[in-house]
Amino acid sequence: MSHTLLRPGRDGAATATAVSAVPEHTTAGRSDRNGPDTSGLAASEDYRGRHREYEGRHRADPDGLSVWATAQSTGPAQRRGRYVPESVKHPARMLPAIAAHAIHAYTQPGDLVLDPMCGIGTTLVEAVHAGRDAFGIEYEPRWSNIADANIRHAHDQGASGRASVIRGDATRLMSLVPKALTGQVALVVTSPPYGPTVHGLVRPGADGVVKYDDRYGEDKGNLAYRDLTGLADGFAQILAGCATLLRPGGVVVVTARPWRKRGELVDLPSAVIAAGLRAGLVPIERCVALLAAVRDGQLVARPSFFQLQQVRKARSSGVPMHLIAHEDVLILAKEDGTGVVA
Ligand SMILES: C[S@@+](CC[C@H](N)C(=O)[O-])C[C@H]1O[C@@H](n2cnc3c(N)ncnc32)[C@H](O)[C@@H]1O
Repeated sequence: MSHTLLRPGRDGAATATAVSAVPEHTTAGRSDRNGPDTSGLAASEDYRGRHREYEGRHRADPDGLSVWATAQSTGPAQRRGRYVPESVKHPARMLPAIAAHAIHAYTQPGDLVLDPMCGIGTTLVEAVHAGRDAFGIEYEPRWSNIADANIRHAHDQGASGRASVIRGDATRLMSLVPKALTGQVALVVTSPPYGPTVHGLVRPGADGVVKYDDRYGEDKGNLAYRDLTGLADGFAQILAGCATLLRPGGVVVVTARPWRKRGELVDLPSAVIAAGLRAGLVPIERCVALLAAVRDGQLVARPSFFQLQQVRKARSSGVPMHLIAHEDVLILAKEDGTGVVA
């Protein structure tokens, strides 16, 4: 562990379909859950709830929607200056705006946030910038070192939260963290790996396009090397540790990008929900984090070279495939043993 200050918590361009449910002026969530107190307003005649009329239609407060506008700027633009340049080498980084949205929606300043598969530390960086404390686990030293560097960089930029990274196997979470953290975590934000190789980066080679930075690592202990069943088993173990660390009322946010293997859809979101149930968690919400920007009521997608290639090939062979422009966001809470969400 390179940072030791852990305080237990106090208490992508192609145009797609029009989306009328998404407001025009959207940014990643920036309001805290307990934000403005509207309890007095609710009693007044003027109060019309979260929904307001625009040109005869009802629109919701952007922060209260299950569709998160998390790609109003590209991944590189979101990370520029905020993350160390080596971060780009990780093959499956979370969009910073996704982590930031979850943190602002589900925690308060001073709360403790955990990412048990933290990669280059996106969840941790966004947490400390938001004045939350955080810790993360990462299996590969290569990524945990970059996560450390990203946290130092955030502090150099004035981030006030504290954060630590532990290098280890999160399937044995409770053997890696101090027992004093039991029941202290307000929020877990994480995403499981998507197979041993992912899209990575591309450059033109003599024999066509060459992929690079497309692997998490070579160590077969990395959950990325397991098949879907093995991944789900390992993830259930990780979530069981998270459930022990969660405080009453705490939530787990898992992002799972729909993923295809040899053209077939791998139903990772369902596997995540099943893993959560096995870990004693209950699903309470299912949201969508956009990987496409919302511009003038249209989605502007930002597909990778390989995504475009896959969809074009499928369509030319008569398979009506869509370009993936979102991640599923699964939100789970702890059951208190009586069937009630704690
Ligand atoms: C989808 S990536 C997470 C990326 C991260 N959210 C970020 O923005 O950098 C999943 C991560 O889980 C890590 N991992 C795989 N097996 C693990 C294990 N048993 N314990 C801890 N981390 C593991 C992988 O090395 C990879 O960095």
